[in-house]
Amino acid sequence: MQASAANVKKTTKTSRKRILVLHGPNLNLLGTREPEVYGRETLGVINRRLGAAGRSAGVEVRCYQSNLEGELIGRIQQASRDGVGFIVFNPAGYTHTSVALRDALAGVGIPFIEVHLSNIHAREPFRQRSFFSDLAVGTLCGLGSRGYDFALAYALRAIGAARE
Ligand code: DQA
Repeated sequence: MQASAANVKKTTKTSRKRILVLHGPNLNLLGTREPEVYGRETLGVINRRLGAAGRSAGVEVRCYQSNLEGELIGRIQQASRDGVGFIVFNPAGYTHTSVALRDALAGVGIPFIEVHLSNIHAREPFRQRSFFSDLAVGTLCGLGSRGYDFALAYALRAIGAARE
C-alpha cells in the first residue's frame, strides 16, 4: 500500500493538460438533495463554473457523474489513456465503502484531490472514514461547492497550467 500511495501522490508537472472532475452517487441531485447539508447549487452550475475556469487557463476540464461504481472505475481507467494529469473526485457515498474505486486510483497513479461538500468529520461516525484520503494529494471538505474550485485551482497549478 505504501508504494501505491507514493505513486498516486506524485505531483510533478507533466504534459498531461486535462483534468477530470468526478462526482459519485446522488450528486446529480444537488440543489434539491438535503440542501441544508449540500447547498442549493445544482451540479450543472458547479460543472459549468469549473469548465469555464479550465478554459481560461487553457485546460480541458471534463466533468462526469455516475451513480454506478463500475462506471466511475471505467472513467478512472479511461483517464489514464486520455492524458488526464489530475483528478478532482467526490466519491460521495463510495467514500466510505469502495475498495474497488481506491484500487482504480492507485492503479492509474494519477494524482487526485478528494472533495466533499459537507464536513464529513462532523457527521455520523460511518462518514468519518474514507478509503481515499491517504492516497489523495489532499482533501477538502466542509467548504460547500467552493471545495471544487479550490481543488481545481490546485490541480491547474500542479499540471503547470496556472501561474504561481
Ligand atoms: C459527500 C459526503 C458523503 O458522506 C455522502 O455520502 C455524499 C456526499 C459530500 O460531498 O459531502 O453523498 O461526499
